[in-house]
Amino acid sequence: MILVTGATGGLGHQTIDFLLNTTPAAGIAALVRDLSKATDLLQRGVDVRQADYFDYPALVEAFRGIDKVLLVSAVAFTDRVLQHRNVIDAAKEAGVKHLFYTSIQRSTPFVMQEVTESDLATEAYLKASGLVYTILKNGYYFEGLGYLIGSQVPGSEILFTAGEGKIAFVKRTELAAATAALLTSEGHNNQEYTLSGSEAYSFHDIARELSALAGHPIAYKSSELAPYIAQKVAAGFPEVVAGFLAQWGAAAKHGMLSGTHDTVERLLGRKPTSLREYLKTTYFPGT
Ligand SMILES: NC(=O)c1ccc[n+]([C@@H]2O[C@H](COP(=O)([O-])OP(=O)(O)OC[C@H]3O[C@@H](n4cnc5c(N)ncnc54)[C@H](OP(=O)(O)O)[C@@H]3O)[C@@H](O)[C@H]2O)c1
Repeated sequence: MILVTGATGGLGHQTIDFLLNTTPAAGIAALVRDLSKATDLLQRGVDVRQADYFDYPALVEAFRGIDKVLLVSAVAFTDRVLQHRNVIDAAKEAGVKHLFYTSIQRSTPFVMQEVTESDLATEAYLKASGLVYTILKNGYYFEGLGYLIGSQVPGSEILFTAGEGKIAFVKRTELAAATAALLTSEGHNNQEYTLSGSEAYSFHDIARELSALAGHPIAYKSSELAPYIAQKVAAGFPEVVAGFLAQWGAAAKHGMLSGTHDTVERLLGRKPTSLREYLKTTYFPGT
């Protein structure tokens, strides 16, 4: 039986959606911390189990009878390493054989606080655990772009902290489809995959595509961290969130998210969503 954690969140829920296309519901379990958010999973026959990553005994109970676990990484600023260690230890104690972990893409050694820092610690812990592991180094979601540059069509300028850096964006649903395909196929023991888009785009590319779609010029202006953070705070973001968004730009500037890999494309059997397609459907729906 395959268990997916974070099953009430974006990636976990979408992965279960794809698993249900190929696997009977009786072979799928979902780990949630809030049962009231999992009624649709229950209705579809998924075996819903409850535990918080901080609750070790509940995790051990939840993992009984499970062969493979997809550990959807915990959210930043919440002691991710402790939560991930709990999941890994509990999986081992309950007799799970194989654990998949959703890490973040690392095309360069740039270490991003709260993200790659805790991923590196988790990966080392998992590798030393004796469990069979598969590490999924997920690309930056297209769906996260709106947080970085705003979710409305920009007037004339995009301000961001990425310099000339590129990001190999990937749609979260396509990551979920690829993840489900990996969970249901053989040959991934002790392997690491980077699940990025097939093309990487700079913020100049984003400005150029938005200009073409909007029919007016939009320029990308590279910013130091402080002015960008100030702009985000003025737009209503808490300072810690604005600082975190700026750090993603710094990571992009240092190439952390830039590598392109064909794993997602091969697993989907088609090209993943391009920048133009994503911008058109998201910023110009119905056109
Ligand atoms: N690649 C990227 O661009 C990117 C962007 C953002 C985040 N991420 C990482 O990828 C992960 C998955 O992304 P996502 O979009 O699916 O995030 P999401 O929608 O926020 O889902 C996170 C899931 O983890 C669950 N969770 C969080 N803390 C937990 C805990 N202590 N115990 C049990 N469950 C817990 C949440 O439960 P609730 O539903 O109860 O809250 C939710 O189901 C994120 O958590 C983050 O580590 C990646």
